[in-house]
Amino acid sequence: MRCLVLGSAAGGGFPQWNCGCALCGLARAGDPRARPRTQVGVAVTEDGERWLLVGASPDLRQQMLDNPAMAPVSPRHSPVAAVVLVSADVDGVAGLLVLREQQRLRVFAPEPILRILEENRIFAALDPALVERVAVVPGVALDTGLGITLTLLEMPGKVPLYHEDRAAASAEQAATYAARLEAGGRTAIIAPACAEVTASVQQTLAGADLLFFDGTLFTDDEMIRAGVSQKTGRRMGHVCVSGPEGSMARLAGQPGRRIYFHINNTNPMLLDGSPERAAVQEAGFEVAYDGMEVL
Ligand code: MLT
Ligand code: MN
Ligand code: ZN
Repeated sequence: MRCLVLGSAAGGGFPQWNCGCALCGLARAGDPRARPRTQVGVAVTEDGERWLLVGASPDLRQQMLDNPAMAPVSPRHSPVAAVVLVSADVDGVAGLLVLREQQRLRVFAPEPILRILEENRIFAALDPALVERVAVVPGVALDTGLGITLTLLEMPGKVPLYHEDRAAASAEQAATYAARLEAGGRTAIIAPACAEVTASVQQTLAGADLLFFDGTLFTDDEMIRAGVSQKTGRRMGHVCVSGPEGSMARLAGQPGRRIYFHINNTNPMLLDGSPERAAVQEAGFEVAYDGMEVL
């Protein structure tokens, strides 16, 4: 199983179009320590030919162009055979619109996310005759037909931002997922959002050879301190990296490779050589970058 990080930043990307925070400033100025990153996405393949995307961010078109593995090999072809949706956030689904143009593929998603696609007519741009939407029951393993078995794992989360004002936003819509992918005896878990690392989350993640985990914020209030938002990470459904309840402490000592991705542009661990980067590395974590390949 080969994993290719298409995008390692959280929603907004790095730098974010309207963000003048210190880190976005460095990235915009071309500081080599602040490598730009596109919005979250990981591509996975077992046979090296057919790829499964986990997440479809608005940067997907650029990601396809940046990665030769995503290039067509004949006049109408794509190595992308399927997409797994684990979030209905803008950075989780907007890239589906990039995948129109008469391409046959399968979209695997849990019912609440499929319902959001159905409610939003713009997604009908994906011709139903070519794009099959497959409902995935969380916790039940499913053969993707690509030599990869998919299981959706429920994670503590919250409703998408654009649904927050709806009284009808149900607990079901608040469900957030991780994708567990198994192939060739190896397991990868891709978890871009997790509101809290509970004992049950620890247990769920423990079996993976490879974990891509929510690295949105380093500290819960960093967006407030950077003057870019009134929201804490907790409020956004993202557990922070540092602190006694942070993911670095709660996932310490887990076996396998642990890689932070979905990193917000205010997170100082984005900066090569920062003390925060050193701290996560010291704790055994890696920080994803666009184009990173993990075998
Ligand atoms: C998130 O990860 O919290 C969302 O992607 C935020 C957003 O939709 O901008
Ligand atoms: Mn996001
Ligand atoms: Zn910024």
